Amino acid sequence: MQITLESKPFAQLEADALVTYIFEESDPIQGRVSEIDAVTGGLLKKIASSGESTGKTLEFTLIHAPVGLKATRLLLVGAGKRAQFSGATLRKVAGAALRYLKSRSIKNFAFLVREDAANADTAQAVAEGFITANFETDKYKTEKKNGKEIDAVRIAGFSDSEKSAGEKGLATGKIIAEAQNFARDLVNEPSNKLTPKILAERAEAMAKEAGLAVEILDEKKIADLKMGAILSVSQGSVEPPRVIVITYTPANAKPGAPVIGLVGKAVTFDTGGISIKPADGMEKMKYDMAGGATMLGVIRALAALKPNVKVICVVPSTENMPGGKAQKPGDIQTAMSGKTIEVLNTDAEGRLILADAIHYAKQLGVTHIVDAATLTGAIVVALANINVGVFGSDQAWTDKLLASAKASGEKMWPMPMDDEYREFIKGSFADMQNIGSGKGGGSITGAWFIREFAGDTPWIHLDIAGTAWNDDAKPWLAKGPTGVALRTLVHLVQSF
Ligand code: BES
Ligand code: ZN
Ligand code: ZN
Repeated sequence: MQITLESKPFAQLEADALVTYIFEESDPIQGRVSEIDAVTGGLLKKIASSGESTGKTLEFTLIHAPVGLKATRLLLVGAGKRAQFSGATLRKVAGAALRYLKSRSIKNFAFLVREDAANADTAQAVAEGFITANFETDKYKTEKKNGKEIDAVRIAGFSDSEKSAGEKGLATGKIIAEAQNFARDLVNEPSNKLTPKILAERAEAMAKEAGLAVEILDEKKIADLKMGAILSVSQGSVEPPRVIVITYTPANAKPGAPVIGLVGKAVTFDTGGISIKPADGMEKMKYDMAGGATMLGVIRALAALKPNVKVICVVPSTENMPGGKAQKPGDIQTAMSGKTIEVLNTDAEGRLILADAIHYAKQLGVTHIVDAATLTGAIVVALANINVGVFGSDQAWTDKLLASAKASGEKMWPMPMDDEYREFIKGSFADMQNIGSGKGGGSITGAWFIREFAGDTPWIHLDIAGTAWNDDAKPWLAKGPTGVALRTLVHLVQSF
């Protein structure tokens, strides 16, 4: 799918469809849309006054053969109340329009941005909306969706003088959304197609292509480094673990400058281990590597966007299986940091692999850490599939992340980290235990466990268990992997 910027007047655009959006207000036919109304002989005002088009969010009105336009169709998409309109709405409107037209076998269309919106942010949001909406999860279907493909999209409404800003936004949007789809493709892979070894190979190939430094730690190196927490999880599987380390170094890197560590949980399949999960829904545990995939996507985007700060991405990857050698409840493990851990529940494995990965990232010199993980079912109870749970040890660092989430249009919610919760994970027979002792707050105790390994280094943990996977398709996104948090993290690094 080709996306370009277009500066021709809308009436002159030849396309299978001209798309624009209207707001939910007493008269939704205003501004640029009233210009369309004028060339189409008052058609839009008629449709609006009949109540057919109200501007309600993602309401579609498809008009065939509109007079006065060269486009063969006109599609109006509701964008909701003007006061609540944001880049996030625009991204959804653009994405939903693409999926709507694609399902109707349309090959090319032009998306007309509204008056006063022809800027870089708009072009970026629209491009992101298109590219993420165009991603399908039919990779393993032998019959694709009857060849329904969008060939070309134009973003229109940019004058010649606005075009260069638009081109910049478009280029950024492409980089970010393609990285997001790269992550989503990994998340969508079933565990037989994506073992830790294969994930490492794919990460290595990506890094080489992007010009990033990469090192893959295999099971021997992991053992040499005494990453006992990772090994404790991987020992139940015949598939060996991997730790993927990818480094982005800016051109003018200065010694002593901050280094951001991006750590992502990549359990390619989580059966729960000996504390085995119920069969119902277990198939979804292929997405337990979404945190790792997100971080790989982030660093892929950074390689192209070239921010001014060094970033080290550490992705521990393993299966969590109940094999004959699997760890058992009550086993005591020694993490790379030297801390001992009583494994009371083998299904709380994400925090174990993150413990060693964070310790290792610190050894590599990171000064600020963000981890992303499908860590707990409890975050789904707390925030459903709407918000990412945000846990932090440092207010300034956490505030930056929350500001980036806001700017990127991703919903994230700060969770409490009071010292009292820390008591829940004090071990009876070792330094720590990997689950809280029966007092609720499961996402917080999980976060506290990880925090113990970040120590004094400013740290943020994103629990994406509820948000990394859509059980149902959205008008703007296929069912399945969402690529959540990628845009926020790219923004965080770029604004550092
Ligand atoms: N991978 C799961 C968390 C999860 C749950 C991800 C639902 C996606 C959707 C994690 O490893 C896990 O099993 N956590 C346990 C922790 C518990 C044993 C303290 C959980 O949430 O039940
Ligand atoms: Zn688990
Ligand atoms: Zn897990």
